[in-house]
Amino acid sequence: MVKKTSKTIFSCQACGYQTPKWMGKCPDCGEWQSFVEEIRSGKPGQRGRRVLSASQPKPVPIDAVELEPEDRLLTGIREFDRVLGGGLVSGTLVLIGGDPGIGKSTLMIQVLHGIAENGRKVLYVSGEESVRQMRMRSQRLSALSSDLLVVSENDMESILQMAESVKPDVMVIDSIQTMYSPELTSAPGSVTQVRESAMQLMLMAKKTGTPIFLVGHVTKDGAIAGPRLLEHMVDTVLYFEGDRNHVFRILRAVKNRFGSTNEIGVFEMNENGLNEVANPSISFRTP
Ligand SMILES: Nc1ncnc2c1ncn2[C@@H]1O[C@H](COP(=O)(O)OP(=O)(O)O)[C@@H](O)[C@H]1O
Ligand SMILES: [Mg+2]
Repeated sequence: MVKKTSKTIFSCQACGYQTPKWMGKCPDCGEWQSFVEEIRSGKPGQRGRRVLSASQPKPVPIDAVELEPEDRLLTGIREFDRVLGGGLVSGTLVLIGGDPGIGKSTLMIQVLHGIAENGRKVLYVSGEESVRQMRMRSQRLSALSSDLLVVSENDMESILQMAESVKPDVMVIDSIQTMYSPELTSAPGSVTQVRESAMQLMLMAKKTGTPIFLVGHVTKDGAIAGPRLLEHMVDTVLYFEGDRNHVFRILRAVKNRFGSTNEIGVFEMNENGLNEVANPSISFRTP
C-alpha cells in the first residue's frame, strides 16, 4: 500500500513548528495566527534525486573567497550617506521607520532622486499613493528625473516580477505594511504578510545585489505589525524622528551591519523638502 503523502504543511512563522493542519495558536511557542500554508513541490522521494545545477552554490575554502573593496553607492545626501556608514552597500535591506507624517516618503524620494542624478536607475514602489501623487510630491521637492521610476502596487508577486524585468539599481517599498502576497489569506499589515513580504524582498536583495529600502510606520497599536518585527531581518535600521510641529528631523541608526550606530543625521523639513543641517550646534543654539 502506498502511504498518502500530504503536500501541504503549515509552518509557524514565529518558531518554525510544522503541522499538517492549520492552527490558530502555535502549541510550541504560543504565538497566535502565526501559521502559514506552505506547498511542498514534488513527492518527498523525488527530492533526493535532484540533479545539481550549475547555479547552485558550492562550498569554497574560506581563504579563497575574493574580497573586493566594498562598493558603496552614494545618495548625494551627505547626512544620509554618513548615517548609512558611508553610502549604500550592495544587496542590503534597510528599514526606515518612523511615525506617520514624519517625512519618510519625502526622504525616500529625495534619496532616490540623488541616486538617479548619478545616472542610476531607481524604482519607487508605493502601496499608499498613486503615481500622480508621487509626481506632485516629486515636483514640489524638485526631485524629478527620468531615471526615477514610480509605480503604485501592493501585490508582492507583481513587484518581484517588475523588479526582475526593470532591474533597478536601488528600490524603495513604501510601505511594507501595505504589501501582500496573494497566496496568504491574512490581511495586508498582519504579522504574517509583513514578515513574508520582507522575507521575499530580502531574498531578492541578496540574490540580485539590489539595495532595498523598506519604509515602515511605527504604530503604538499592537494590532498592526510594526517595523520592530522586522528589525532582526534587515541589515540596517534607521529611525526618522522629530516633532511634526517643528522643523527638525533626526535620522538615527539603531542597527547597522555595515557601519556604526552612533551616527545621527539632522534635517530641517520645509515645503521644499528636507535640507541637511550640517552644523546642528549652530542651528539649535538659542538666540
Ligand atoms: N504640499 C505640502 N507642502 C508643504 N509640506 C508638505 C506638503 N505635503 C506634505 N508636506 C510635509 O510633509 C510631511 C509628510 O511627509 P511624508 O513624507 O508624507 O511622511 P511619511 O511618509 O512619513 O508619512 C507633512 O507632515 C508636511 O510637513
Ligand atoms: Mg509616506
